[in-house]
Amino acid sequence: MDQRVTLITGASSGIGAAVARRIAAAGESLVLHARGGPDGEKIPLLEAVAEQAREAGANVQVMTGDLRHPDVAIGLVDEAVETFGHLDRLVSNAGFALNKPVGEMTREDLDHSHTVITGAFFELVTAALPHLIASDCGRVVAISSFVVDQVPGGRMFPATAAAKGAMQAMARTFAIQVAGDGVTVNCVAPGFTEKETSGHSALSHSSWKAAADMTPDRRLAKPADIAAAVAFFLSDEAAHITGQTLRVDGGLSLI
Ligand SMILES: NC(=O)c1ccc[n+]([C@@H]2O[C@H](COP(=O)([O-])OP(=O)(O)OC[C@H]3O[C@@H](n4cnc5c(N)ncnc54)[C@H](OP(=O)(O)O)[C@@H]3O)[C@@H](O)[C@H]2O)c1
Repeated sequence: MDQRVTLITGASSGIGAAVARRIAAAGESLVLHARGGPDGEKIPLLEAVAEQAREAGANVQVMTGDLRHPDVAIGLVDEAVETFGHLDRLVSNAGFALNKPVGEMTREDLDHSHTVITGAFFELVTAALPHLIASDCGRVVAISSFVVDQVPGGRMFPATAAAKGAMQAMARTFAIQVAGDGVTVNCVAPGFTEKETSGHSALSHSSWKAAADMTPDRRLAKPADIAAAVAFFLSDEAAHITGQTLRVDGGLSLI
């Protein structure tokens, strides 16, 4: 089998790092991206994830850049193709949550969420389009969120909800566009998911405890729980599933 080339954004911690660890194996080529923290202080974390993936047998290229700049997303795709010759699978995971209700949140907050979440997804799939079509296993997985249609315990993330909801809508229409080319496009919507200490957390320690308590299975998701769903959508077995959003939330969406 040809090497599969997978680009994962936001792979320095949490869900993105778990996806990298989950799919790293001999015969896999990974482009692992993260911002690296505002001043590059988190680049070593991304390098550590890359090293773990190499130890599992994968070929790994590391790239950094702030997705607020559209040329960063385009550059990731270009560099993946330049390095490995093609691009088969895209995991649009980089993102953050903003816990500010309307009245506190600014127009700049809204624009920033749209730029980093919806805008980067748009740039990534636009740049990746010809490569996904050329692949015999084109796959796109976008990491959405429970916040699109839930306000559990009154926790409000309107800017994040708007950006993730727009991304989900775009993913669904993009799925229709490329279905005839054998490319699948799906979203995974995590519930409350454990953060690494290096991760970007929008909640206090006590709020995370309350989040676990309000989740029907009484725990936070582990990043590996989310990575398992992503790996399924990336797999050959999921070739006939497209345009879907899979909630991985311990039942949070049922209450
Ligand atoms: N954890 C949850 O409860 C939860 C729930 C629902 C959805 N999600 C979604 O799942 C995804 C991963 O979350 P996580 O909990 O694993 O978060 P995390 O550990 O904080 O990781 C976020 C990743 O995104 C990158 N990133 C953030 N802003 C960026 C920017 N402007 N440009 C480029 N990269 C940027 C970070 O890079 P650096 O850290 O290197 O700067 C990091 O690699 C996010 O899209 C999030 O919205 C999370």
